[in-house]
Amino acid sequence: MDKIRILGGTPLKGVITIGGAKNAALTLMPACLLTDGTLSLSNLPHLVDITTMANLLAQHGVEMSLDGNSPEGGHTGRVLELTARDITNTTAPYDLVRRMRASVLVLGPLLARCGQARVSLPGGCAIGTRPVDLHLKALEQMGAKIELAEGYIDAKVPGGRLKGAHVIFPMVTVGGTENVLMAATLAEGETIISNAAQEPEITDLAQCLVAMGAKIEGIGTPTLRVTGVDRLHGARYSVVPDRIETGTYAVAAAITRGQVELVGTRRDLMTSVEKVLVEAGVEISDTERGMLVKADSAELVGVDIMTEPFPGFPTDMQAQLMALMATASGASMMTETIFENRFMHVPELNRMGARINVHGSSAIVRGVKQLSGAPVMATDLRASVSLVLAGLAAKGETIVNRVYHLDRGYERVEEKLAACGARIERIKDNDPAE
Ligand code: UD1
Repeated sequence: MDKIRILGGTPLKGVITIGGAKNAALTLMPACLLTDGTLSLSNLPHLVDITTMANLLAQHGVEMSLDGNSPEGGHTGRVLELTARDITNTTAPYDLVRRMRASVLVLGPLLARCGQARVSLPGGCAIGTRPVDLHLKALEQMGAKIELAEGYIDAKVPGGRLKGAHVIFPMVTVGGTENVLMAATLAEGETIISNAAQEPEITDLAQCLVAMGAKIEGIGTPTLRVTGVDRLHGARYSVVPDRIETGTYAVAAAITRGQVELVGTRRDLMTSVEKVLVEAGVEISDTERGMLVKADSAELVGVDIMTEPFPGFPTDMQAQLMALMATASGASMMTETIFENRFMHVPELNRMGARINVHGSSAIVRGVKQLSGAPVMATDLRASVSLVLAGLAAKGETIVNRVYHLDRGYERVEEKLAACGARIERIKDNDPAE
């Protein structure tokens, strides 16, 4: 498996272009199953997870064509056309679902369009058990008959068409809201989703569905009202910028005490992250093309955070912020409320000289003057990138193993950082024994 080698200690200076949001693309792509028209998605990021979703959709019978690289190179601005003229297969097999939990997002659209779906149960993952019970209960409320057998969700709609219902989620679920929202667009009558997730990726999905002919009210609020229509049509839609990629590179600027302009993104997508960074001593301002993150003269201080559903501080930024807090002066308490096992980066950061103690769902981070490079490894995407960030600030060499996780969610991470002066390179490793 590839590795990333970093020689830390260089303040970043330059410009980084932010791509389309992975988590928005992963729900916009399966939305194509709701229509026989063509859904054309632009600003699609080039990531392993996107390829996995494309492979899943292809085996359902979706025809695809990919077009256009950005003039500056790379894949920003790619356009993917997805046409689900005929759905030839309603099974999402274990082999694809096990690679990526977001595969379960084909369930709602397949049920709505075909009246049946067989989707492998996603199971747990490195950051927790992550059940899909709330997705299933909501779809049952809409008339689906669901059985779990042989590791699969076997769902059928007697009569063929889902019916509107009042779905009240007992806890905020991003994927659950997405599945129900997509299913409701073609259901008979009105569906109300209470305690809906309000993440920008949900808003992106809702706006795309409206462009496809769906009737949705309350977009961006915790109550979504969907009036089912008989059919949806194709549309063109541009994926929202990635707020987690934006936040990650903002931390990269801060942790190296550098200065980076982030372009192609929107500041309003990361208000909660900005608030914390500013409280810590980072300066953030608007530029013509995006935003400037400046920490070259900053004396950073520890700030307490608690992860929460949007608009709260995102769990997907917790690991990155922890790396930053490890280098700030004073202490910081970080409480994780979304996933039960999301501190796996802690022992690795400690191996780099950080002083972090975990007590249940909270971690106390005591800032140190200097992290030191070390070989490290992580088992999920955001934990891996937090180690890259720590490596950028650390004295000496850091080798981040299992880069596979990074490639799932960060496009050309080493190129983007190197362009701002980081001493970072990918070491290709073809050793099959690893
Ligand atoms: C999405 C994001 C992920 C992010 C997370 C929380 C994608 C592809 N992934 O994941 O990056 O970290 O939101 O912002 O968009 N839960 C249940 N039962 C359910 C569903 C969820 O108990 O049926 C629990 C989960 O275990 C978790 C919490 O609810 O503890 C939130 O999960 P959810 O919002 O559903 O996360 P995902 O959609 O899987």
